[in-house]
Amino acid sequence: MTDDLESRFADLIARRTDFPALARLHEGRTLAHFDGPGGTQVPQTVIDAVSGCYRTANANTHGFFVTTVETDRMLHDARAAMADFLGADNARDISFGANMTTLAWGLAHAFARRFQPGDEVLVSNLDHEANRGPWLMLREHGMVVREIAIRPDATLDYDDFAAQVTPRTRLVAVGMASNAFGTVNDIARARELAYRAGAWLLVDAVHYAPHFPLDVRSLGVDFLLCSAYKFYGPHVGVLYSRNGLLDGLATDRLRTQDPRAPHRIETGTLNHAAIAGTLAAVDYLASLGAGASRRERVIAALNRVAEYERELAQRIWRGLQRLPAVTLVGPPFGTGRRAPTVSFTVAGLEAAEVCRRLAERGICAWDGHFYAIRPIELLGLLERGGVTRVGISLYNSVEDVDRLLAAMAEIVAGA
Ligand SMILES: Cc1ncc(COP(=O)(O)O)c(C=O)c1O
Repeated sequence: MTDDLESRFADLIARRTDFPALARLHEGRTLAHFDGPGGTQVPQTVIDAVSGCYRTANANTHGFFVTTVETDRMLHDARAAMADFLGADNARDISFGANMTTLAWGLAHAFARRFQPGDEVLVSNLDHEANRGPWLMLREHGMVVREIAIRPDATLDYDDFAAQVTPRTRLVAVGMASNAFGTVNDIARARELAYRAGAWLLVDAVHYAPHFPLDVRSLGVDFLLCSAYKFYGPHVGVLYSRNGLLDGLATDRLRTQDPRAPHRIETGTLNHAAIAGTLAAVDYLASLGAGASRRERVIAALNRVAEYERELAQRIWRGLQRLPAVTLVGPPFGTGRRAPTVSFTVAGLEAAEVCRRLAERGICAWDGHFYAIRPIELLGLLERGGVTRVGISLYNSVEDVDRLLAAMAEIVAGA
C-alpha cells in the first residue's frame, strides 16, 4: 500500500525538494510538518519572488520610473494569477490585504453602512472567529445576527440553516472548510438558501483553498476570502468580490485612495514583496499540473494534490483509530469531500501536552482551538484544552505520517 501510494504520486513526492524548509535539521533530524493549517512552508520560487522584489523592483505604485512601473505590472499580474486560482473573470475582482481577517473587518464596516437596523445576517457556529467576529459586530448597528447550529460530528445543521434564513436576511457568511475539523460545507445549498432570500453569500475559503480547486463562478458566491500563507505563499489576504459589488460599498477610505475596485478596500500601501510571492505561489501550484492555461494547470494540480492528501489523512485517521486512548473529532472520511485535517483528543492528556511531546520528537502540530473557538466550545472541548490538530500539506510524506503514528503510539503508552 505504501509503495503503491509512493509510486502513484511519485511526481508530487519528487517536488518535496522544492521546499528548502523540509531540509532543515533540528537536533539532528528533519521536522515533520503537520502545521500546514496554521501556515504552510513555501517553495524556493516563492522565496525568490519575495527577495527579487526587494532586490530589483522595490518601489511604490503609479509613477514613471522603471521600478514603479514594474511594481504596477506585478500587482496586476498577481491579481490575474489569483483570478486564475479562483476562477474569477477579471483581475479587477481581486483585492489584497494584510490577511483575511483585516479584509473581513473592512467589509464589515462597509456592510454596517449599507444594511438597515433590523436587517438580518447569518453566520455559522462552525467557523473560525475571523468569519464570525466581524459580522457579529453588526449587532452594534442594530442588525440581527443569527448563528447556524452544528451537529456533534462538527458538521452544519442544514435544517437549522434553512430555518434561520428569512426575507430580511441580507448576508450569509459561511466557511467552506473547517480549519478545526476538516468539515467541507455544502456551498451549493448555502447559495440556494441565500439566493432565495436575496442575500449576499460570503465564503471563507481559507482552509479550503490549499486543498481543492475553487471556482467562484460555479459556486455563485458574492464574496470569497482566502489567505496566501495557507497555500504555499506569504502572509497576504485575498478578497474576491463579484463584479461590480465592491464599487457599490462604502468602505473605509481616505480621500486620496483610488475609489474603484479592486482598490476600494485596499488601505494604504500593500505588501508588494508578499504579493509578488503570492503570484509565485499560484505559479508554483500551476507547475504541478498539466493543461493549456494556468487555470487548467491549477485545477489539475489541486485535484491531484487533493487525492494524495486524502490518502495520507486517511492513513492518519485509521492509524489513530487503532489507539484506544485517542478520540477522533470531526466527520469521518466518507464518500464526500473532506479536508485532510485530523483533530483528536487523548484520554488523560491535554492537547498542549500531546503537542509538546510531539515537538520533542520533531513533529510540528498545533493544539487548542485555532481561533475556531465557537465549535470547540460547543463540542465541550474548550475546558479540556481543545484538540490536537494534524494537517496534511502537499509536501507531507508517508514517512511523516508513519513517524506521527509511531510517536502517538509512544505518547499514549506514556513514553
Ligand atoms: C478557516 C480560517 N478562516 C480565517 C482565518 C484567518 O486568516 P488570516 O490569518 O489570514 O486572517 C484562518 C486562519 O487560520 C482560517 O483557518
